[in-house]
Amino acid sequence: MSKKLYIKTYGCQMNVYDSERMEDVLRPEGYQITEQPDDADLVILNTCHIREKAAEKVYSDIGRLRPHKDGKTKNGEEMVIAVAGCVGQAEGAEMMRRAPVVDMVIGPQTYHRLPELLKDVKEQRKDKSSARVLDTDFPVEAKFDHLPKVEKAKGPAAFLTVQEGCDKFCAFCVVPYTRGAEYSRPSADIIRDAKRMASEGVVEITLLGQNVSAYHGDDGNGGETTLGTLIRELDKIDGIERLRYTTSHPTEIDDELLTAHRDVESCMPYLHLPIQSGSDKILKAMNRRHTGDEYRSTIGRLREMRPDIALSGDFIVGFPGETDQDFEDTLQLVRDVKYSQAYSFKYSQRPGTPAATDEDQVPEEVKAERLARLQALLTEQQIEFNSTSVGKKMKILLERPGKQEGQLIGRSPYLQAVHVDLSKENIALDETGNKAYNSFMGRMVEVEILEAGPHSLKAVLVAD
Ligand code: 5AD
Ligand code: SF4
Repeated sequence: MSKKLYIKTYGCQMNVYDSERMEDVLRPEGYQITEQPDDADLVILNTCHIREKAAEKVYSDIGRLRPHKDGKTKNGEEMVIAVAGCVGQAEGAEMMRRAPVVDMVIGPQTYHRLPELLKDVKEQRKDKSSARVLDTDFPVEAKFDHLPKVEKAKGPAAFLTVQEGCDKFCAFCVVPYTRGAEYSRPSADIIRDAKRMASEGVVEITLLGQNVSAYHGDDGNGGETTLGTLIRELDKIDGIERLRYTTSHPTEIDDELLTAHRDVESCMPYLHLPIQSGSDKILKAMNRRHTGDEYRSTIGRLREMRPDIALSGDFIVGFPGETDQDFEDTLQLVRDVKYSQAYSFKYSQRPGTPAATDEDQVPEEVKAERLARLQALLTEQQIEFNSTSVGKKMKILLERPGKQEGQLIGRSPYLQAVHVDLSKENIALDETGNKAYNSFMGRMVEVEILEAGPHSLKAVLVAD
């Protein structure tokens, strides 16, 4: 009898990717995905520790699972609850104490050992009523070597992890502690994965890493490949029409990456380049290793290479010691750069990070007020960016069905969601008996943008 697996993913794209890999590891063990936690044999919460709210949510979700654990599952065994990801890594032992229903805690670097660890849970349950399995080892290399081949790609746009971990130690951030030291996969492994993905219909690949611009994988000849060179290599693969990468650090946008944006057609004109604050004093306290003007100059160079490049960023308001003037500097930087979209957060004290013990914490009300002002400005810029798309023709990749019949949703080169109504021209049945518009799925098409909202665009097909 097959066993049911429920995975809940919190946080970043890296976790989304990791959850899919956990599914791949467990499929040969007879596990099949279910959308319902109630009757699952195994529940995995793949957690995020980046801000306090994200971590607290995990504990409340565990509380909600408790009643389901009392009964036996259809397989006659008690449900296994596993916590994976960064909360597990950071608070594993404490979590075991605080949440006795949790059977197993695994860090982001050990999920290839899931089948073994599940056996340990079963063994322990024979002797005692509850199991306590904890595995939060480093380093990351072992994981990539032991993971099964990535299962068939699910759609035309896919993620590919090329790098993990971070050595930057920004003063607010848990990533260097939860994900560990920076590690880049050898370029040959990445190219092999990308070729296979292309052969399965993947058209767009987003290269993933906590610090993807730090990529320096083994090139197989005793040297290292940079991200810019990797992009040029991946561009040569037949079928790969779009390449993206995330997340980058402003100090690492080197000439090879800049010129890739100019020369490589598949390198999309979009860059997520977090700055966090526009104040030099705060940037220094954050240990970001650059100034506001250095960031502005990087943006200037990017725009020289690729004038239409769309920019996105991350911002933290209320970092310890942030004054009204520091915050004004952030607003000024946003006005100077003009973002197509961005993410912004109130500073959250994370245990074990240097800024958490700073005595100059900013009061919650001040953080909330600053966040609201920053978000209003960013939303204004996002609407402005989207509205300048109206009337333009562009290529989009159709990725998924929309809510309405005949509608497909794709992404613009600038990562905007674009809704295309294909029902009028293409309502006929195709040779397989499906509505003809389904045959557009996974394809790059040329559209004209008709309308813009804050979060998406509407478009029509342009006749070939
Ligand atoms: N508080 C608030 N935001 C944070 N981020 C990371 N750590 C914290 C923290 N302690 C944000 C940063 C980062 C994004 C992934 O999350 O903006 O770029
Ligand atoms: Fe965290 Fe990014 Fe700084 Fe690394 S570079 S410590 S992941 S914010």
